[in-house]
Amino acid sequence: MMAAGITDAPVVTIDGPSGSGKGRVSQHLAQAYGLHLLDSGALYRLVGLVARRSKINLAATTKHESVLSNLAADFNITFQLTEDPEEPLVVTLDNQDVTRELRSDAAGVDASRVARLAGVRDSLLDLQHSFRRAPGLVADGRDMGTVVFPDAEVKIFLTASAEARAERRYKQLKDKGIDVSLHDLFLSIKARDDQDTERDVSPLMPAEDAVLIDATNADIDEVLEQIKAIVTKKLGDSLVPTP
Ligand code: C5P
Repeated sequence: MMAAGITDAPVVTIDGPSGSGKGRVSQHLAQAYGLHLLDSGALYRLVGLVARRSKINLAATTKHESVLSNLAADFNITFQLTEDPEEPLVVTLDNQDVTRELRSDAAGVDASRVARLAGVRDSLLDLQHSFRRAPGLVADGRDMGTVVFPDAEVKIFLTASAEARAERRYKQLKDKGIDVSLHDLFLSIKARDDQDTERDVSPLMPAEDAVLIDATNADIDEVLEQIKAIVTKKLGDSLVPTP
């Protein structure tokens, strides 16, 4: 018999392209309902980071597929949800806080390069499944509803135009005092979209049974309320919102 609360805990998947607001929505949902959170993008960012530290040439990832896959299978990492809205998730690698390093645009580009490799994706599967524990999980990524948790109870695909996503990211970075070019951000978002949607393994796409939400003209708090209503309707009594 399956151990209760280990593999049968409910899962809410939030997939979508970068900058769609899914990270923020996922963190809010996890906190609001007291659920575990899987930021799967952070795992790919970690593989990219370890690869860079090991001086692996990320422009030629296919040559290093088995090394990168072994790296991914052998992580010593922790994820910690915090109350700090500026830093809601703290990630450590070998007991060192790497949260800021992981959030850079360069780390996103590196992640996207290693994420094309089937070996790396396979190596991360068990780790991702291990996040599914009682009372439930919010899983944020690109293939959460299609590949990693195809039996998830609630699947959301959150998107927005590349222009709107670039502007949102631009505002966030400006507010943090980081000087960036809106045009460069737009180009980087477009390049990552193309790479993520056109790859052969686990490309970015909505699951057939996902609810599609376009946040181009919506405020992210409104989107969050909309998703909370869907989650509450589907999972009902199995979730208890925390005050
Ligand atoms: O979501 P985030 O921007 O942190 O993801 C970084 C990169 O990791 C994405 O551009 C994508 O290439 C990859 N990724 C993925 N599958 C996931 C999550 C992220 O391929 N489930």
